[in-house]
Amino acid sequence: MSVIADRLSAISESPTLKVGQNADRMRRAGIDVIDLGAGEPDFNTPGHVKAAAVAAIEGNFTRYTAAAGVLELREAVCAQYRGAYGIELTTGEVAMAAGGKQALFNAALALYNPGDEVITHAPYWPTIVEQIKMTGATPVIARTGADDGFAVHAGPIVERITPRTKAIIINSPGNPTGALIAEDELGRIADAAAARGIWVIVDLCYEQLIYDTVGHNLPKVLFDRMRDRTILCGSASKTYAMTGWRCGWTIGPREVIAACNTILSHATSNIASITQKAAIAALTGPQHGVAEMLAEYRVRRDSVHEWLTANPAIRCVKPRGAFYLFPDLSELLSPAMPTTGALADALLEQSHVALTPGEAFDAPGYVRISYATSMENLREASTRLLTFADRIRAGAAAAR
Ligand SMILES: Cc1ncc(COP(=O)(O)O)c(C=O)c1O
Repeated sequence: MSVIADRLSAISESPTLKVGQNADRMRRAGIDVIDLGAGEPDFNTPGHVKAAAVAAIEGNFTRYTAAAGVLELREAVCAQYRGAYGIELTTGEVAMAAGGKQALFNAALALYNPGDEVITHAPYWPTIVEQIKMTGATPVIARTGADDGFAVHAGPIVERITPRTKAIIINSPGNPTGALIAEDELGRIADAAAARGIWVIVDLCYEQLIYDTVGHNLPKVLFDRMRDRTILCGSASKTYAMTGWRCGWTIGPREVIAACNTILSHATSNIASITQKAAIAALTGPQHGVAEMLAEYRVRRDSVHEWLTANPAIRCVKPRGAFYLFPDLSELLSPAMPTTGALADALLEQSHVALTPGEAFDAPGYVRISYATSMENLREASTRLLTFADRIRAGAAAAR
């Protein structure tokens, strides 16, 4: 009999966190590693948010709160979604969670039974799929392609619906591709789902990191068609540079939010009371910092994209959201270095640049580059990556 429960037998450790750990290990050994693996803003949490947290501590706001979060915070989430998307929510339709990760997990625990199928799209953020598996449900994957920027289309998702389908998870802007789903494509998915009583869950973690001026009112698309089967998962992590504070939220029908509340009440209780005060300040305070961070990410995205694609062996669509580039490096692979996992190891070892191999996202041949780091780091890391690529190509040419 194995020590660890069966439900974990097919679950892997987060590969994105592992890249950071390897880079850290080398850094501690005194090596100058540039980490492009991190999925988190390099900006500091805004001053007014930190001040609210300090005031919470000084004011002894340090006790248990309602498991789903204090009313004022849930009201702030409702106001945020009313302002951004024109949807009306009540606080009973919102439960806070320790980040978007737990917001998604609570929804998964609340909804999926063993044997259910849950459809999502690849390349995907691995947590989405591992969470499905942890509930005993089965992930069903619809692939997207680089030829149209990894756009999520309704067709391949709707085709995968079976009588066992319980839910469809859409991540837009998506990690690792930065792709967006078009409102009409989501509308077609929603129509198909609504007709069959299937849930649609949208991971909106990067909702405020969108570079194109395209309609992305996914909450309204779903609320107009199937409010009673819609779950929205959001997070303060990326929008407000608050990854360490652990603040996210699940929005859904009262019955599901009540189930999330039950899960929270037995698993973690409330998220930190201090984080809650900080999040109220983030959601209700000045928002110009969000636009400033987005403007900076845009310059970085454009620069790194231009630098890297100057090498014809590196093909890369320009992402429309989030803070990742997802280039195709398959031309650099060979029998001696057959995967981007092997390539990432060699790049770390030889050039001291950490990035995340595409296999982690079910996308062999690709790598994820986070540009949530300084321009100086990005310039130097790009130079190292280009030199590494030239060396590999020169080696391959010499062997021919
Ligand atoms: C697609 C996606 N969803 C959700 C999250 C959750 O982030 P957090 O738990 O920090 O809010 C992440 C974090 O990397 C993500 O990439």
